[in-house]
Amino acid sequence: MLAGKRVLLIISGGIAAYKCPDLVRRLRERGAAVRCVLTQSGAEFVSPLALGAVSEDKVYQDLFSLTDEHEMGHINLSRQADVLLVAPATANTLAKMVHGAADDLATTVLLATDKPVVVAPAMNVRMWEHAATQANIAVLKDRGVTVIGPEEGDMACGEYGMGRMSEPLEIAEALTSFFHDGARLSGRRALVTSGPTYEAIDPVRYIANRSSGKQGHAIADALRRLGSETTLVTGPTRLPDPPGVNVVHVESARQMLAACEAALPADIAVCAAAVADWRVATEAGEKIKKTPGGEPPPLKMTENPDILHTLSNAGNARPGLVVGFAAETENVIENAVAKLARKGCDWIVANDVSPETGTFAGDANTVHLVTADGVEDWPELTKKAVGARLAARIADALDAAHD
Ligand code: C5P
Repeated sequence: MLAGKRVLLIISGGIAAYKCPDLVRRLRERGAAVRCVLTQSGAEFVSPLALGAVSEDKVYQDLFSLTDEHEMGHINLSRQADVLLVAPATANTLAKMVHGAADDLATTVLLATDKPVVVAPAMNVRMWEHAATQANIAVLKDRGVTVIGPEEGDMACGEYGMGRMSEPLEIAEALTSFFHDGARLSGRRALVTSGPTYEAIDPVRYIANRSSGKQGHAIADALRRLGSETTLVTGPTRLPDPPGVNVVHVESARQMLAACEAALPADIAVCAAAVADWRVATEAGEKIKKTPGGEPPPLKMTENPDILHTLSNAGNARPGLVVGFAAETENVIENAVAKLARKGCDWIVANDVSPETGTFAGDANTVHLVTADGVEDWPELTKKAVGARLAARIADALDAAHD
């Protein structure tokens, strides 16, 4: 159900806009409060009067209306909503969203929002299938926008194909599960490690690796989106802290382990950090001086703690589900299967990080999920999509353990 949820329905100019009064009714039947923003071309297809009557609220149309700005402002429209639903979302509106255009009230609200955005596209089949629209949809999905439909069927233009807006009932159902999914991990505690570690040689020099932290941060973000109370323990990266996540910044492997132990108990642990296996045995207290003609300093290394192994073997404090990563450049699956046993974790996400794959710095990742039940080969996905899929798999596993 949608009880207590505030939906800001943004209606752009497609013929499917005529279904919006019905959509408002379906959403309200489920307990949602609905407020409408209508674009200029949307108003060609559906009357503000009808929308105002079924929503029992004012319909907002004008960015520069003094009364609208005075009472509501585009920032407040987003602030007072739990979700922004764009239905119908025309090819033009989707393109504007991708580029951050803000030339009317609807697109300005969409640019100014930090709330979840759901779109229900509606357009002619060739517009939908055009590479530009498909690329725009991919960008929006990657930014976390949820896409409902479109469906295949007869179109208002007389053609048949993909591009019809999903029926109001379908959209209302999808929005209901959107909120339900958002609570799938509520009450659960998750711990994620991410990024490289820096192992100091002296106060100014360190040994590090090429991990960007993109995958680990995406996983923490995805677990939080499913409602878990999430702690991200990260080595130095250039990434912003994911919103709503408790982020602990560390440098060395030993600091990372201490921060992880401090974050226990946890139901879920995902170790995505590229932890340095070794550190310099004795860190110099002062900067090591270069003497002309002198020998380079010998660097004696010692082993770092293995965080994944430690968490997997933590007795009563062991998180219920422990997931490790295996970054390999050869024999990816064989090494991952061996690692599962050696570390004592439940799952291993294995990926090929050979330089030619571009995995380390890039946004895409092709992974294999290795569990006691076998190996799942996932298609190439963005790191964000890998995070979302892994978080959903984790929620499934915890649900199954609970049943
Ligand atoms: O043994 P290897 O480094 O290949 O194992 C990779 C997995 O173990 C990753 O999940 C990584 O985050 C974790 N790991 C760790 N602490 C270490 C080394 C690896 O948590 N010191």
